Amino acid sequence: MEQIDWKNLGFGYMKTDHNIRSTYSNGKWGELEVHESEFLSLHIAATSLHYGQESFEGLKAFRGKDGKIRIFRMKDNALRMQDSSEGTLMAKVPVEIFEEAVIKAVKLNERFVPPYESGAALYIRPVLFGSGPQIGVKPATEYMFIVFVTPVGPYFKGGFQTTPFVIMREYDRSAPLGMGKYKVGGNYAASLVAGERAHELGYSNIFYLDAKEKKYIDECGAANFFGIKNNTYITPKSASILPSITNKSLMVLAVDLGLKVEQRAVPVDELITFEEAGACGTAAVISPIERIDDYNEKKSYIFSHDGSPGPICDKLYHKLRGIQYGDEPDEHGWVTVLD
Ligand code: PLP
Ligand code: COI
Repeated sequence: MEQIDWKNLGFGYMKTDHNIRSTYSNGKWGELEVHESEFLSLHIAATSLHYGQESFEGLKAFRGKDGKIRIFRMKDNALRMQDSSEGTLMAKVPVEIFEEAVIKAVKLNERFVPPYESGAALYIRPVLFGSGPQIGVKPATEYMFIVFVTPVGPYFKGGFQTTPFVIMREYDRSAPLGMGKYKVGGNYAASLVAGERAHELGYSNIFYLDAKEKKYIDECGAANFFGIKNNTYITPKSASILPSITNKSLMVLAVDLGLKVEQRAVPVDELITFEEAGACGTAAVISPIERIDDYNEKKSYIFSHDGSPGPICDKLYHKLRGIQYGDEPDEHGWVTVLD
């Protein structure tokens, strides 16, 4: 068996042993199948290829000090994938099928769940797409649901340390009444040009404003935004951002830690008032923000002068990771411990 360098894993794809699949046809989901191949055979007129009928999810499994594997908030991902089906007219994957497939994918690839000490995790990627043919712009009648896994380290190089973000007003990721609230592939295709440009300029991530007025904060690349000031956790309320499960968890943990929480429109001008700022998501966990440069307006908002994360980001990060790895009690019922 190949040796995996657990401590130096990045956020990339690695082949694992098995993936789980189910197909939907004639109005019902078929049995879960176990596959070893990373490839699939797809109809050349599949709606996912032509019309973007596709959604995906991202969640993680963690190995605790006790050796047990814990999956974080799996049901929330199942429900969000159902929302994405509403937004794209795809067949919905029932929560039980989603959960069974996720558990099966993790168990059958148990040797890829990183050891506790590495601080890495097993990333779980469920994906749903139109597999049946159409040539008119219409929903497919057949769908495929696949769950595969891959071990991952931090999304941003260096893990829990601050990085610079950038606002570029010439790019939008989603329209005000569009698809931003769903986890569909097209949103990520729409973010590639801006994301690459930000990377070329030395930023770790792009920071989106609302597309209509360019006045309010939406989200950052593949993560939600939060700011901290006056003992308050503040995060944007917007119809064009993905409802992040990490953000939802942090809002609860912030209250547990004695902070106030505000979920509301956050004007970009308010950035100057935040004592700390971060991006949060399954892949990003909490990625504390060093500074946000407003590229077009030639302004900078600085949150860390010495590169270190602020004290509240630090507390929230350790609390969340503690629950995920089983070091802290799971008081909110977020964790599924595998037997
Ligand atoms: N926003 C976008 C656009 C994302 O792709 C993600 C990642 O899933 C998030 C936010 C964070 O969501 P979650 O915390 O559920 O992973
Ligand atoms: C996640 O946090 O799970 C994401 O979906 C980010 C990703 C697109 C890599």
